[in-house]
Amino acid sequence: MKTATRASEAPEVLNRAVHVWLCRLEPASIASLARSSRTVLSEDERERADRIRRESQRQMFEVAHALVRQGLSVYADVDETDWSFDTNQWGRPEIAGPAHAPPFTFSLSHTHGLVACAISVGIECGVDVENFARGGQPLRVARRVLSEREFADLERQPVETKLDRLLEYWTLKEAYLKARGVGMSVAMQDVSFALDERGIRLVAVDSEATSGPDAWSFTSARPTPSHMLALALGPPDGPSRTVMMREGLPRDPAG
Ligand SMILES: CC(C)(COP(=O)(O)OP(=O)(O)OC[C@H]1O[C@@H](n2cnc3c(N)ncnc32)[C@H](O)[C@@H]1OP(=O)(O)O)[C@@H](O)C(=O)NCCC(=O)NCCS
Repeated sequence: MKTATRASEAPEVLNRAVHVWLCRLEPASIASLARSSRTVLSEDERERADRIRRESQRQMFEVAHALVRQGLSVYADVDETDWSFDTNQWGRPEIAGPAHAPPFTFSLSHTHGLVACAISVGIECGVDVENFARGGQPLRVARRVLSEREFADLERQPVETKLDRLLEYWTLKEAYLKARGVGMSVAMQDVSFALDERGIRLVAVDSEATSGPDAWSFTSARPTPSHMLALALGPPDGPSRTVMMREGLPRDPAG
């Protein structure tokens, strides 16, 4: 009989907080980390990984999904291999089992060099990370993803900070849409933020939104020199939660 890994922290630590687990993907260690991460994945997750042709993307996927499992098991007496997941109609993963698991909410994001997983209880949360060295010409797509107001603000930025500003808007929008679980079914342009001396404010939302901008709070950070991260915390009491960033995989899957 398998015995559950004992939770190292009580689930109640998440009643007032959101923990964001960050795992850097270093070229020297990614292969072995992905190999050991794979051992805790479900068959379905391993099959999904196997369908990813590019090795670096596949390794990132394996580490990301191990991070979700291990992160959740920090707060519940559930073995990392025993979590099961469903997805909502727009693809958001949600916990399906085991039945005795606390009502955790989580959000996952992965990009070249970094994986992030936000975990909380009872609120909507969404995380997004992007790499500054992302391919293509991100500033070219600004018109397509930014609202009029955001685009005007971007145009006012000096050339050396334009990319930072664009990625800040971009990650905030994705984090917010991921927290709602709707993903890219909502046009990014229909969601608008203001970034100024008053901080980060959500100033316009699409017609499908069921809660107003004030129900939300946002954090923007640069967890590494190459990455931008945004976190969105929503109803019912996201704005009163504190945010804690935590580094590394909670446990070496090979250990
Ligand atoms: C969710 C979405 C915003 C992801 O953004 P991204 O920056 O490309 O990727 P990230 O690494 O930040 O996030 C991916 C993770 O978000 C999660 N996710 C997927 N759909 C989600 C949704 N509707 N809501 C919240 N989270 C979602 C998953 O955990 C996914 O990781 P996985 O595929 O390894 O399981 C976006 O890709 C999306 O909406 N996808 C679903 C629909 C789609 O592909 N439409 C085509 C758009 S043109």
